[in-house]
This record gives sequence, C-alpha cells and structure tokens, in this order.
Amino acid sequence: MTPEPHFPTGTDDLTLDPPPGCPAHGIGPGGLHRLHEAPDLRALYRHLREEYGPVAPVLLHDDVPIWVVLGHAENLHMVRTPSHFTRDSRIWTPLRDGTVKPDHPLMPHIAWQPVCSYAEGEEHKRLRSAVVSAVAAVDGRALRRHIGRATQRLVNQFCESGRAELVSQFAEHLPMAVMCHVLGMPEEYNDRIVQAARDMLKGTETAIASNEYIMDCLRRLTARRRAQPEDDFTSHLINHPAGLNDEEVSQHLRVVLIAAYEATANLLANTIRRVLTDPGFRAQLNGGQMTVPQAVEQSLWDEPPFSTILGYFAKQDTELGGRRIRRGDGLLLGIAPANVDPRVRPDPTADMQGNRSHLAFSGGPHECPGQDIGRAIADVGVESLLMRLPDLRLDCAEEELRWTESIASQHLVELPVRFSPQPQQDVTARPSPTPRPIPQARPVWEIGTRPDVPEPAPLPPEPPVAASTAPAGGAERPRGTWRRLLHWWRGY
Ligand code: HEM
Repeated sequence: MTPEPHFPTGTDDLTLDPPPGCPAHGIGPGGLHRLHEAPDLRALYRHLREEYGPVAPVLLHDDVPIWVVLGHAENLHMVRTPSHFTRDSRIWTPLRDGTVKPDHPLMPHIAWQPVCSYAEGEEHKRLRSAVVSAVAAVDGRALRRHIGRATQRLVNQFCESGRAELVSQFAEHLPMAVMCHVLGMPEEYNDRIVQAARDMLKGTETAIASNEYIMDCLRRLTARRRAQPEDDFTSHLINHPAGLNDEEVSQHLRVVLIAAYEATANLLANTIRRVLTDPGFRAQLNGGQMTVPQAVEQSLWDEPPFSTILGYFAKQDTELGGRRIRRGDGLLLGIAPANVDPRVRPDPTADMQGNRSHLAFSGGPHECPGQDIGRAIADVGVESLLMRLPDLRLDCAEEELRWTESIASQHLVELPVRFSPQPQQDVTARPSPTPRPIPQARPVWEIGTRPDVPEPAPLPPEPPVAASTAPAGGAERPRGTWRRLLHWWRGY
C-alpha cells in the first residue's frame, strides 16, 4: 500500500482554497481539480493520469471529494470485487455527513433507489435475474427486423427533402421506438415520449412532470400485463419467479427504457458522426475492411455513451491503483479514461478491429444486461440508414458541431446532413439505395391480377421466426442461398 501524501477524499484540508482571482480555474480545496469546471474532461483525465497514476482524487460540485478511476485494470478490479466496492450510495461518507445536500446537482445519479442498479448481494441477484431473463426472451432476429422497419419509417419522414438533423430526427427516436415495442407498448411511442425522456435527462424545470408522464405509461403497461400477459419484455419481467411487485416492475421498466434511450441515442449519433467526418473510417466501411458492427465497437471504445458512472463506494478500507481508499469513499467508474488507458491502448488512434474489451458496458455483477439490444439498434440502424442514403454527408463544417458535456456523458447537440432526395420506401422491405416504389393499395372492387402489373418472381419461403407482412413483390429479396441465409439470419 502506497502512503498518501494527503487525504484527498477527506475534508481535512479544505481550507487550501486558491486565493481570490487565482488563475487556477477549476482548482478547488487541496489543489484538487473540479471535474464539473473542466473545459475539456479528456484533457483533464490525461493530466490526472500523469499526475496521480490510475486512480486520482478530484472534486464534484460543492467541492465534494471523490476518486476517479482512470486505469482499465483498476476499473475492472473495482466492478468485479463486490466484497470491497458496492453501488449502494447510502454508505458514501459525504452523503452520510451532509456534505452532499439533497439539492446536489448530481443527486439523480446518487440517490439510492430500489432497483437493481443500486442493489447488491441476494437482492441484486433477485432483481437482476428477472431483467436478464426478460432480455433473454427477446427474439434477436425479430428484434433486428423490427429495428430495420423502425429505421425505414424514420427515414421515410425526411428522405424526400434531401436534408435532415439526425440527432433529433433519427438517433433520439430509433431507440425509443424500438424499446416501446420491446416493452410491449408500441402505441406509446411518439414525439411526446421522446421529448419527455430528453427533458427528464436534461433536468429542466419540467423534468419531474416528464418523469411522471413516463412513469404513468409504465404503470399502466404493468397493470395491463399483470391482468393479461403477452409475449413481451414486461410480461416476462412480471412472471419471473423472482416475484417483482408492480412498483418494482414499473421502476425496472423505467431503468431499462431510460438507459436504452440515452445510451443508444448517443451511440447512434457518435457512430454516424464518425462515419461522416472521418474519411478513413468511411473508406474502411465502404471498402469492406470494416463492418458496421466493428464501427459501432470502435465508437464504444472512443466515445462510450456513458463516460463515467457515479458511482461505486468502498465497503471497507482498501487499496486501488496504489491509493489508500477509505471505507465510505466514493469512486467514479471511469469508462472513457479506462478505454484510452495507454496500458491497454498504447496508440489511442489504433483501430480496435471489433475487440470488445472496452468498458462501455462496465463489467462484473452490474455489467449492462441490455448490451446486445443496444448493439443491435446501433448496428441495424446505422447500416439501414447508410443503405437508404448512400451519399449522406455533413451539412456544416465539422468545427461547427457542438456537444453538451457533463461528468456522466457527452451528447452531440445536432448532426445536420444532406443527401440526394430519395422516394419513400416500403417499411417492410430491406433498406436499399434503389428502392422499388411503395406498392399501391388495390381498389376494393378489384379482384384478380391487374394486367399491367407484371407477376412478381416467386419468393423464397418466409423465415420461421415471425410472420412477415411484406407485400408480394414489394420487398427487394436477396438472391442466392448464402444471401437468403444472411437475410434470414439478420431478420430483415
Ligand atoms: C449502447 C447502449 C448501452 C450502454 C452503453 C449501456 C451501458 C450501461 C452501463 C455502463 C451500465 C452500468 C453498469 C454498472 O453499474 O457498473 C448499465 C447498466 C444497465 N443497463 Fe445498460 N447500456 C446500454 C443499453 C441498455 C439497454 C438496451 C438496456 C435494456 C434492455 C439496458 C439495461 C441496463 C440495466 C437494467 C442496467 C443495470 C444493471 C445492474 O445494475 O445490474 N442497457 N448499462
């Protein structure tokens, strides 16, 4: 154990304020850096790594002390050692001694809630087992087919205009459309619920009302499925032997909906932005050296949707990365800094070639159980979008792109794009740059085949996974056994 030169997470030396007018902006008591005042968190993490090594003492709002874990190995050790570190914030010393006030800006991340994210031990196993089993019941191929259709619907809304803003018109909508379908409430998906989720996360003055709106949808869904189960996520959550009560079910639906919405919207926006602004990235995709899933994985390394998770808390005095951690200390899971730890990535610009050992989904007992759903939304969403709009390009200078950054995440504000206007496509067809037109509805009086319409070629048999509503001849079908197999496997 390395002796500490000072006691950064204690309040012993809080009198060392910089003098008035001190140029050391962002430096607080004890000479520690205030994370929330850093103009560039990546640069600050680099600096902290040089100054302190893999675990550094920093300050949150109101000069609340915390450790930020920068090392890949140290973060993994923390999340995989539940005997020493817990997600239960109620043991955090600054919370217990009143240093963290109830109106602390990070309270939504800190306040303990009766959901699996904050639980541990047997209670965590009980709650998480229900979530994991509900995720496992989601049919992967049917999900991919649904994501393809949801993408088609969204692209149809702007494809004829030749321009779009992909954060608000695509990246924020696709995960919500998919998750409303997965949970079993497709009728609740609309602009209002996307707006409510966005509003809730931004913490505006209407955030409480927005949270209530979402909770009301989820409580009604819980009551409906309790009375009459169906084959969807919510019914599996309710019927799991863990025996979640109605409030536990609705609260877990909220965790799932919001985690999926926020993280996947970020992942989609980040991956598309990278394709549009990095010529090498796009060339690799177009040339087949990189697949869309590999591009998504690269984005999870370089721009993880959650840059940190607040937090983990020490259950006993221990040591991490050569630092003495006291019982009750708080630690930020440093996902973004861990992903660029020079010990695992000596060249931070190197292509990770689909390597999945980044920490974007964390690890250990709390590792994200929905990662395959998040990946599927990003893979199919990006691939279908690029297929529909192959000449997609940025409609502003790259330097004009803006982000909102917090300690927890970084959001692209807008992603304006241009492309050659395209006709709408049948949502049940596989996305294509050369679509067949949407089939016209037949007049009700017409019987038999119209003589001017050529007979469609015979189709391969439908995949057994879900009934397709594709109209005969309306969908572009892949030819050849291999492509048919691929088509069936991808589910759209
Ligand atoms: C790209 C998309 C996603 C990313 C980057 C992501 C990332 C994460 C991270 C970093 C955690 C915290 C783990 C910890 O506390 O150490 C987490 C937890 C969680 N995520 Fe995800 N997530 C994504 C999508 C989803 C989806 C689609 C679902 C649901 C279907 C989901 C459900 C959850 C749940 C329930 C937890 C809490 C697990 C527990 O504490 O046991 N996530 N996620």
